Amino acid sequence: MILAIESSCDDTSLALMQINNKKLIFHKKISQEIEHSIYGGVVPELASRLHAEALPKILEEVKLFFNDIKAIAVTNAPGLSVTLNEGVMMAKALSIALKKNLIGVNHLIGHIYSLFIEKEEISPLMVLLVSGGHTKILNFFDVDEVCEIATTLDDSFGESFDKVSKMLNLGYPGGPIIEKLAKNGKDIIDLPLPLKNSPNIAFSYSGIKNAVRLEIEKNIYKKEDIAASFQKKAIKHLVFMSKRAIKKFKPKNFAIVGGASANLVLRSEFEKLAKEFNFNLLYPQMEFTSDNAAMIARAAIKMYKKGLFTTYDKLEIKPKVTFKSC
Ligand code: KG4
Ligand code: ZN
Repeated sequence: MILAIESSCDDTSLALMQINNKKLIFHKKISQEIEHSIYGGVVPELASRLHAEALPKILEEVKLFFNDIKAIAVTNAPGLSVTLNEGVMMAKALSIALKKNLIGVNHLIGHIYSLFIEKEEISPLMVLLVSGGHTKILNFFDVDEVCEIATTLDDSFGESFDKVSKMLNLGYPGGPIIEKLAKNGKDIIDLPLPLKNSPNIAFSYSGIKNAVRLEIEKNIYKKEDIAASFQKKAIKHLVFMSKRAIKKFKPKNFAIVGGASANLVLRSEFEKLAKEFNFNLLYPQMEFTSDNAAMIARAAIKMYKKGLFTTYDKLEIKPKVTFKSC
């Protein structure tokens, strides 16, 4: 089996997955949401220290499987350099001690493989990736063959939820908080639809965020209505740009992945799109939408089968990554 380690942001997670049948044997995650909540976002130094505490704790629980491990996989890009480093250092130490191959996994590719946990891979696939750090539309062909159709010019989708939540003094992570609040609100505030007059396929969330800030300062709307109006427009922007990509590339399969793919309003809007454009819509199981090591293990199995290994002296941390454009 493969041992996978994830520490790119604020979740410490380890997973063990069987190579031949992709069965998830062990999966544990220690989240730091409470610790970062008072700051309204992730504090890298604090995150790094918490990973250093949590990683060996979880490792204790997988020690009895050490003899069955064929390779060590770890997220090495993209993410916060100080937190990626914690997982990568442990992976390197384990690869030396256990004399096993090392596999460096791109976290974004990991999110795509969250679709395939205990399942067969589906490709080609158009992917809308919506997380705290990224908002992208990608074309996925294989674990080492992904191209980028669109990305954000500024904030990400998830980040804009975090920032709106912070402006309303509601805590972190903002996504689930805003989604819940919006259920009791109405879409009555006229917020701008970003980039609607631009011909490009791209995202931008800083404009909506600033418009929300101005509406909050007016002090006339209920928090619920602000949440509902913001969420509606933020999702409309995703749908608007995804439509352009769908018209251009005509995918048979379309997936939504990343932490924000847990949003049920977002899912239902894309269900409508799936009917309109006749594509097969996929998303991960709820428990694998946010950061986890199971998706890293699943991507690593494909890399293992393709012989995409590295060694402890070569594996580098890359806080930022780029994909070739489609
Ligand atoms: O993928 P993820 O767990 O971590 C990163 O790789 O960034 O995504 C976390 C992001 C946060 O910004 C969080 O607010 C957002 O996903 N998120 C949501 C929802 N659940 C999590 N955004 C909107 N609606 C949600 N239900
Ligand atoms: Zn993520």
